[in-house]
Amino acid sequence: MKKLLVWALPLVVVACGQPTKTPSASSLDQRVDSLLSLMTLEEKVGQLTLYTSDYDVTGPTMRAQYKEDIKSGKVGAIFNAVGADYTRNLQKMAVEETRLGIPLLFGYDVVHGHQTIFPIPLGESCTWDLEAMKLSAQIAAKEAAAQGLHWTFAPMVDISRDPRWGRVMEGGGEDHYLGSLIAKAKVEGFQGENLQDTHTILSCIKHYAAYGAPQAGREYHTVDMSDRVLREVYLLPYKAGIDAGAATVMTSFNEVDGVPATGSKYLMNDILRKEWGFNGFVVTDYTAIMELLHHGYAADTAHAAQLAIEAGVDMDMQAGFYQDKLVELVKSGRVSESLIDESVRRILRQKFMLGLFEDPYRYSDTAREQAWLMSAEHLEAARDISRKSIVLLENKNNTLPLSSAIQRIALIGPLADSKRDMIGAWSAAGDGNKAVSLREGLMARYPKATIAYAQGCAIDSPDKSGFSEALQVAKNSEVVILALGEAAQMSGEAASRTSIQLPGAQQALMDELRKLGKPLIVVLSNGRPLDLSTLSQQADALVETWFLGTMAGHAIADVLSGDYNPSGKLTMTFPRNLGQIPIHYNMKNTGRPRDVDPNGKYTSRYLDVENSPLYPFGYGLSYTQFSYSNMQLDKESATAKDTLRVQLTVKNTGSRQGEEIVQLYVRDWVGSVTRPVKELKGFQKISLAAGEEKTVVFTLPISDLSFYRQDMSFGTEPGGYEVYVGRNAEDVQGLRFQLLE
Ligand code: GLC
Repeated sequence: MKKLLVWALPLVVVACGQPTKTPSASSLDQRVDSLLSLMTLEEKVGQLTLYTSDYDVTGPTMRAQYKEDIKSGKVGAIFNAVGADYTRNLQKMAVEETRLGIPLLFGYDVVHGHQTIFPIPLGESCTWDLEAMKLSAQIAAKEAAAQGLHWTFAPMVDISRDPRWGRVMEGGGEDHYLGSLIAKAKVEGFQGENLQDTHTILSCIKHYAAYGAPQAGREYHTVDMSDRVLREVYLLPYKAGIDAGAATVMTSFNEVDGVPATGSKYLMNDILRKEWGFNGFVVTDYTAIMELLHHGYAADTAHAAQLAIEAGVDMDMQAGFYQDKLVELVKSGRVSESLIDESVRRILRQKFMLGLFEDPYRYSDTAREQAWLMSAEHLEAARDISRKSIVLLENKNNTLPLSSAIQRIALIGPLADSKRDMIGAWSAAGDGNKAVSLREGLMARYPKATIAYAQGCAIDSPDKSGFSEALQVAKNSEVVILALGEAAQMSGEAASRTSIQLPGAQQALMDELRKLGKPLIVVLSNGRPLDLSTLSQQADALVETWFLGTMAGHAIADVLSGDYNPSGKLTMTFPRNLGQIPIHYNMKNTGRPRDVDPNGKYTSRYLDVENSPLYPFGYGLSYTQFSYSNMQLDKESATAKDTLRVQLTVKNTGSRQGEEIVQLYVRDWVGSVTRPVKELKGFQKISLAAGEEKTVVFTLPISDLSFYRQDMSFGTEPGGYEVYVGRNAEDVQGLRFQLLE
């Protein structure tokens, strides 16, 4: 087939070699329109189709049919194709064997690292360190781009308040204020200043919308909530990512208020494009267009394709419904070709923005691939953010840090010697075999100690036959480090649990070891808040390490040894038990609040457990202590145009340096709708030497107190407010102020 070289197009001036800057919008639009004008309807529909590469033991492979689709211009993007050579070969098919030579877009789930794997996002969010979270995205982008990738399906910014849902591991916790800041940091990290740079990639805000609120925490289940809660909580991180310039958005599998997101004009057009001004492209989640049939929202394939394209969905991931039906729908007049053109424009714009028309092979570079993957610099950055992700939950009698002089350590438990589990779910191109296990981390940190290991039990089995060996090992030690938790694949997609207990015989193993009276340090690796009510009583020290990624073992040893003083704080509430779910810090007061009549029968409470969580949002201990004092407001009353200045003194009253995440919350005591008892409105992570004190100052624009009032208008309301500062959502001190008309 004689191919019309795209770069022969009028108005397309090809810069030799590396393009140096993002083309201006007008020239970009001209180039897009110029190319669009040459495309057949079939070629246009091809740009709206995304298919997966496959894997076999040798690595990514491409089904024969997909190769034919690429050569015939029926597919415009491929995901799960990784590697400079492999992507180059696929790209050559598109560029050299199709009529117009339009380059492919290569996407992949680079969620928390590419080959250097960082902590799962829920763990990373506990650093509250936006610069660190941006850096990990930058490194991930650099490594992904070195392997031919242009686009990551990340960040996942779904708010969730339900630990039964497996994908809480993938998000930034329960709070939309923090979640929005993380979304911004991640988009900036992935996309950088200029998408022309070959170490930046397109980001993808997912899963739009409210995927994190499935009924009963059951994966893919129904989402139903008021428009007020949708807008005030769940939509904010998506909007923050889009405001940060996210290039793409992914639709969620779930329905919202009866309409599947993938067919929702309200979400995809009214809010996303008209209200928020999003000008990138929308891709569905995996076969989500086909799932409109299962939802009972589309009657057949053609109807599903029509609903999706009319809703504003630009690219069909893996269903093939656009490829199968859009040409026919346009030719029959059921769908306007202008809709197709709009979607094609949005996709071509991103391909131009990446510089793929100047050089379609610019990301498939074996030299960069060898230089940048898992470099020492990247691994050190991973170790740093991993140790900052660790949350110290208990440390009775200063059991930790462990002295370097310790001689005999018993290391027990199903997560103690695991490498694969350390990289968690959604670790894409990561290789678990390259991860540092806790055992390896401890051996490196305590080279003179005897570290006796026994698994004790499996992660998720009732078998207790390993207990006796574990007990014997423990008896001969000075201290027991017990590594418990979940398997990596017990969280992530399609991994909801009806129990948040430690799986298998792990609690039974803990019960037996507790009887020995040895110092017991429990190290947790898990992808969700667990019910730690018993464990928290039994453990002398309890350390939440999530799944920390490639450098897990070293990062945990850094904390257990005190080489690094833990600073992480929870971004998701830990309930006392399953029955409390959903439980989150920013709940409503109700008409019969417990604290009005603490011993009263007729108050909002349970018969069998107190209302407070086991560990609240924002909770985390340090090896030192911090005092909070001298809280002041610069005004006792304010107007909506004012800014409130809040200050306090934080002092490190302990004996060693430490970092503290100082949190700022606000309560609106009376509103035209009821208001949460607290809302996070600021935080600062400060480092203090032993004995050092610092004046911490927050400036709070009163406009930040805006909300959707009873008539759904967005703004502030006069009345009494309280500002809190504290070390977590429960441990705060407050001062009131009046917001005037
Ligand atoms: C999955 C996930 C989504 C991911 C996509 C491609 O089903 O829901 O997060 O990006 O498929 O792997």
